[in-house]
Amino acid sequence: MATCYDAATAKILNDTSVDALLVGDSCAMVVHGYDSTVHATVEMMASHTAAVRRGSADKVIISDLPFLSYRGSEDVSTQAVSTLMRAGSNGVKIERCKGNTELITRLVDAGVPVMGHLGMTPQSVNEFGGFKMQAKDERAAQTLLEEALELEEAGCFSIVLECIPSSVAERVTDALEIPTIGIGSGPSTSGQVLVINDILGLDSTFQPSFARRYMDGDQMVARAVEGYCEDVREGEYPNEGEFRP
Ligand code: KIV
Repeated sequence: MATCYDAATAKILNDTSVDALLVGDSCAMVVHGYDSTVHATVEMMASHTAAVRRGSADKVIISDLPFLSYRGSEDVSTQAVSTLMRAGSNGVKIERCKGNTELITRLVDAGVPVMGHLGMTPQSVNEFGGFKMQAKDERAAQTLLEEALELEEAGCFSIVLECIPSSVAERVTDALEIPTIGIGSGPSTSGQVLVINDILGLDSTFQPSFARRYMDGDQMVARAVEGYCEDVREGEYPNEGEFRP
């Protein structure tokens, strides 16, 4: 799984073997430049979801329910989910377990596939005091395991495990029937997810230790734009084949 936020990237990813696209609320940070995902809204997520769907007709698309959008009345939560589903997603991801299981069961009963998300849930960054590894001691690991089982029982089809020790991710994965998707949680989860900007190396000032850059995208983009500027300044762009007299 990889995150995706726009139609152009979705068009490229549509022709890769990646299994699913996550329209993550990380878009608030990597696309909109905010310092946390707390700034994502339903409108923002719906706009990115619709763009990704326009670019990718074939992939399974899961969209994040943004911060607090699923914590109001039943009506408000249902409206948020329906906005994202109508924008083109095939399911939604909800962070944390406590207080969410009734909603999850209700959505699953209504035909909405729901993905859980435990561990370093970024919407809770203010509670955690930063983007820090979670479930580091036995008590926290046991709580996380119990919550994963609760989410499975509630009807989640999969759970993202973010930034927890590899041994805990393995324990949770072994205990569940549904697949786990890891990020920063080692190799033992059923699958992996990465933020597309990290895969493409678009920001060398932000490189989480668990993310692998598959290209130096920021340098490549800068080189391409410098090449264009140089050609314009030297009168080499456009050439005769690139305009009509
Ligand atoms: O918002 C996001 O991109 C995510 C992934 C990092 C799991 O939730």
